[in-house]
Amino acid sequence: MSSMHLIFELSGDHPDLAHAEALAVLNRSSCDPSLIHQGELWSSFEVSQLPPFPILGMTQAAYQVLEGPFSSPDELLSSLRSDPPSFPDGTFVVRSAHFDDTEIEGSQEFQATVGEVFYDLGRKVSVKDPDIILTVITTKEGTFLSLLVHSRDKEDFMKRHVKNRPFFSPVSLHPKIARAFINVLYRPGETVVDPFCGTGGFLLEAASMDISAWGIDLDPDMVDGSKQNLGHLEYDTTKVLEGDAENISTFLPDLVGKAVIVTDPPYGRSSYTGGQTILELYERCLLAFKDFVGPKGRVGIILPDEASIRQAEAIYELELMVPVRAHRSLTRHLCVFSHRQEGP
Ligand SMILES: C[S@@+](CC[C@H](N)C(=O)[O-])C[C@H]1O[C@@H](n2cnc3c(N)ncnc32)[C@H](O)[C@@H]1O
Repeated sequence: MSSMHLIFELSGDHPDLAHAEALAVLNRSSCDPSLIHQGELWSSFEVSQLPPFPILGMTQAAYQVLEGPFSSPDELLSSLRSDPPSFPDGTFVVRSAHFDDTEIEGSQEFQATVGEVFYDLGRKVSVKDPDIILTVITTKEGTFLSLLVHSRDKEDFMKRHVKNRPFFSPVSLHPKIARAFINVLYRPGETVVDPFCGTGGFLLEAASMDISAWGIDLDPDMVDGSKQNLGHLEYDTTKVLEGDAENISTFLPDLVGKAVIVTDPPYGRSSYTGGQTILELYERCLLAFKDFVGPKGRVGIILPDEASIRQAEAIYELELMVPVRAHRSLTRHLCVFSHRQEGP
């Protein structure tokens, strides 16, 4: 089986989450990834096939390596001159990208020089509307010539952004973060359940990826708001229920052992919790979620602080934790939990 080398340009907001998302999507798309390098804002993998790139929330762009790594741009150029790689038919342009503070001086001229190699071979250039974008990538690991194979469709994500939803709430995550969190957790065949669904941020992202999802919220206004937001984009509005998250298994008995939880519970003092303390609420719900997902299931939950993470760790195994800074005084922790494997 032939393999290819891909470079992922990770979102600068939360590169750890972006890396985890890319790896999870490669795994679940049968791409047999093996990690080559994880840089600050980029990751590279050897894969057996291309993944469905548009589902990625936090990859800005992806490149298929044609040549490299070379120890310098000049080495790349001499290799291209002596043995130019082939690339798909169509007009082309050469651009550049750089990571690890490795921008090359005179990168415009260098792009033009690389372009000449292929122009001299009879390939047609189109700067405005190229079919193929060749990209010279410089990193601390070397210089590559690559083919741009994906760039993120920001407009698609903006359609689901809080400010473009009929029912608004500032607590809802940016769609790209919500999507990445789902992607880190979701395994084919599962249903996503958000038992604190609020205005439906996770439900919208799941629906936009054609993943079946259910939401629950204690507050009838939120249930109605989620339905408005889903209906606005013509997604199914029938899978949002009013009730207490603790009763998740009673609400969705057919999904016990077949679902993954992706959720963002209340966290501030002023949050709506139906009259109990946040820690009481977490205690009850964490136990209920464990029974709901079953021994092989996983729970993705956004927690506010170390104390709540420790509380959850008394019940589950922490697989992954990515801090996401919301603003100066608030960092939220995207946590992935699984059942603790008991000893023999
Ligand atoms: C942080 S918000 C969820 C934000 C959501 N991810 C969004 O996109 O809008 C937490 C939600 O939990 C709900 N809630 C509080 N206590 C609950 C409980 N016991 N069961 C279910 N929902 C509850 C609140 O009404 C609120 O909508």
